[in-house]
Amino acid sequence: MEKLLIFVFSFSLSLFGVTSRSETTFNVLHYGAVGNGRTDDTHALEISSANNVILSGLTFKDVPHMHVILKSLTSVYVSNITIDSPGDSPNTDGIHIAGSTNVFIDHCRIGTGDDCISIVTGTSYVKISNIVCGPGHGISIGSLGKYGSHDTVENVEVSNVVFIRTTNGARIKTWQGGSGFARNMIFEKILSHESSRIIDIDQFYCDHMHCVTQESALKVSNITFRQILGTSSTQTAVNLACSSSVPCTDIVLDDIYILQNDKQRASVACNNAYGSVQGMKVPDVSCLNQM
Ligand SMILES: *[C@@H]1O[C@H](CO)[C@@H](O)[C@H](O)[C@H]1NC(C)=O
Ligand SMILES: *[C@@H]1O[C@H](CO)[C@@H](O)[C@H](O)[C@H]1NC(C)=O
Repeated sequence: MEKLLIFVFSFSLSLFGVTSRSETTFNVLHYGAVGNGRTDDTHALEISSANNVILSGLTFKDVPHMHVILKSLTSVYVSNITIDSPGDSPNTDGIHIAGSTNVFIDHCRIGTGDDCISIVTGTSYVKISNIVCGPGHGISIGSLGKYGSHDTVENVEVSNVVFIRTTNGARIKTWQGGSGFARNMIFEKILSHESSRIIDIDQFYCDHMHCVTQESALKVSNITFRQILGTSSTQTAVNLACSSSVPCTDIVLDDIYILQNDKQRASVACNNAYGSVQGMKVPDVSCLNQM
């Protein structure tokens, strides 16, 4: 426990500290936005097909669709972004990353009605740190593999995140019938305050009623969840739902300490998940198959 307390302490210091980096400010009004709340009725800001992008010091409020889309970029540094939209606003992802490589996201506060950060196909080498997320659906890889697509995401590191009353936390969601992979990821130093499914791998993701059972699936492998602590609003705090035809492998749970809000034990659900458990295990993670 001591190790985790030190982490919480140093984390809150870094979260509220002020950085002295000099930063370039991106003014959306210089790029054709009108900003009257009526004519800009789609995504708030999309940056695509560029190298060496720096985005800093912006605040978004009550945006009707996705807030920031980063598409087909190489080397992006995003920091000090505030997103503040209602928890019941649909499809309002905070920062959506597609087809990009070398992406750094640091010091952002995101409250929205969908994923705080979503990372989709063609994306690799992403580092996300010092994020407060909530309300929202957590930090998600995916969804991937929709309509049988071949999707890939790899080398993602997420650290120092607080989830406040989110409906998911660190999440990987893939559709049945897809192919490709989600691999080589670390989610660490994560604090949950009354969130649900704080750790969630879902290879049966489906956002409508008509999904049928299919054999093919994206391969999910080498995913580490380390130093994850806090409270869960639901009993199932960890959900590893992997397919029987393409099981999840090299899943590492290391130092997990999650209680249900009312101090009851939270629980873990797994299917076809292989890997190892280290350090603290609260709740008990006996359903993860040892490799
Ligand atoms: C963050 O951005 C805000 C504007 O949204 C600015 O006032 C503030 O100085 C920035 N903070 C840092 C640490 O860059
Ligand atoms: C597992 O993923 C981590 C994080 O991206 C990476 O550093 C490590 O090299 C990967 N391990 C293997 C065996 O690929």
